[in-house]
Amino acid sequence: MKNFVVAIDGPAGAGKSTVAKIVAKKLKFLYVDTGAMYRALTLKAMKLGIPWNEKEKLIEMAKNTKIELLDNDKYRVLLDGEDVSEEIRKEEVSKNSDYVASILEIRQILWGKQRDFREKYNIVMEGRDIGSKVFPDAQLKIFLDASVEERAKRRYLQLKGMGIEINLEEIKKEIIKRDERDKNREIAPLIKSDDYYYIDTTNLTIEEVVEKIIKLYEKKKEERGN
Ligand code: DC
Repeated sequence: MKNFVVAIDGPAGAGKSTVAKIVAKKLKFLYVDTGAMYRALTLKAMKLGIPWNEKEKLIEMAKNTKIELLDNDKYRVLLDGEDVSEEIRKEEVSKNSDYVASILEIRQILWGKQRDFREKYNIVMEGRDIGSKVFPDAQLKIFLDASVEERAKRRYLQLKGMGIEINLEEIKKEIIKRDERDKNREIAPLIKSDDYYYIDTTNLTIEEVVEKIIKLYEKKKEERGN
């Protein structure tokens, strides 16, 4: 029997990372953040100064890159052996990450790496296309969503907590832009098909969302008979 996959997809700022990490801990599954892989490649291209329209160079770079996701307590991201966990979260990287994410050949390279995790582990994997492209046969597919206002508010509070002052309206605009790019991308756009469980987290606490997912997992596990 194939290892179990909990696929968590949804727009930026819906709380995927927070929820996916807790669910993975509770189930003792491996947590995989696929966004970190797109971010790592984006950072490398920026460091190398590869222009975003040089598709072949970007593909070549992706072929020759080692990305490691360490599922220890700190979830470190290693790019060719170097710890880039903090650097990949910078706004510049967020803004540019759609370039590599829009190149099919690059996605195919990352899909291969993402599928490898299932060979050895049960996984909770978060992203935009996990249930649609990476694992269409995932045993549990969750679509996490929240209103634009709520996602902007959460991001605002998070940045404020980090000592960064930024205008709430600015954040809202940025989120709307990212939604547009994720949903309208030609390759592997963010889509919600009927086999997803849709969870609107706007008025839910993190604990409530986690509990919903764990319940759905238990139901699926029972259906599967193990
Ligand atoms: O979830 P995130 O913000 O860390 O994602 C970073 C970027 O990667 C963002 O532009 C969306 C993209 N992405 C993607 O195209 N497919 C995924 N499975 C995960 C992220």
